[in-house]
Amino acid sequence: MSTNLLIKDQNLQLSAKAPPPDDKLFERIARGIETDGYVHLLAALPEVITDSLLDYLAELDGHNFRSANTGRGVARAHNRFVRRDRIHWMEETCPSASAWFDWTHHLKTFLNQRLILGLFSFECHLSHYRPGDFYRKHLDAFKGESNRVLSLVVYLNRGWQPDQGGELVIYSPEDGSELLKVTPEFATLALFLSEEFPHEVLPTHRDRYTVAGWFRLNSSINDNIDPPR
Ligand code: OGA
Ligand code: MN
Repeated sequence: MSTNLLIKDQNLQLSAKAPPPDDKLFERIARGIETDGYVHLLAALPEVITDSLLDYLAELDGHNFRSANTGRGVARAHNRFVRRDRIHWMEETCPSASAWFDWTHHLKTFLNQRLILGLFSFECHLSHYRPGDFYRKHLDAFKGESNRVLSLVVYLNRGWQPDQGGELVIYSPEDGSELLKVTPEFATLALFLSEEFPHEVLPTHRDRYTVAGWFRLNSSINDNIDPPR
């Protein structure tokens, strides 16, 4: 009798400690950020998440994307020089995106526990790069000017060929050398510290769809509690 009870107790303990399905992936992400500040994982995003993003994209049906290079006159010309993609800021309330936003919430909680990053919120946009579009070398955040801590990019393009361009190139913060070239193939993930790593999107030769997102702190910068996008 007492042996039976003991076995039962052990089982209870085991099942309570069983990791949720994504923990292995989250751990690979955490380890990459911890050791290098960036990480790149091929065919990594679970199908339920890519499905959720594809549903959202299909519902947009090409509408609701707007030029990412806003402004007028010289400012607009400058912005067009920097980037050509068209974007749509994703709405967390949209039902088709709920699996995606749930996943990013879980990742945020995991990274906060594992790396003590203090991530508070997440924002993201879909991007559409048409043939010829690019995003020149840039940083996603400047120290002391933004709450963006960690950048996350997800790729939604099946069967990307080596001659189709559109790679994300990540550069060393120290000497500017090329660290990594990411092919924008379906379900690939790239994450990097937003203030550290200059990166660019090389001109693409076919339509290129991505989700780019940022985990943010909740601190006040220059008296702005939550700086606008
Ligand atoms: C961005 C960005 C990278 C990519 O939107 O800021 O750098 O590969 N995107 O689309
Ligand atoms: Mn960027």
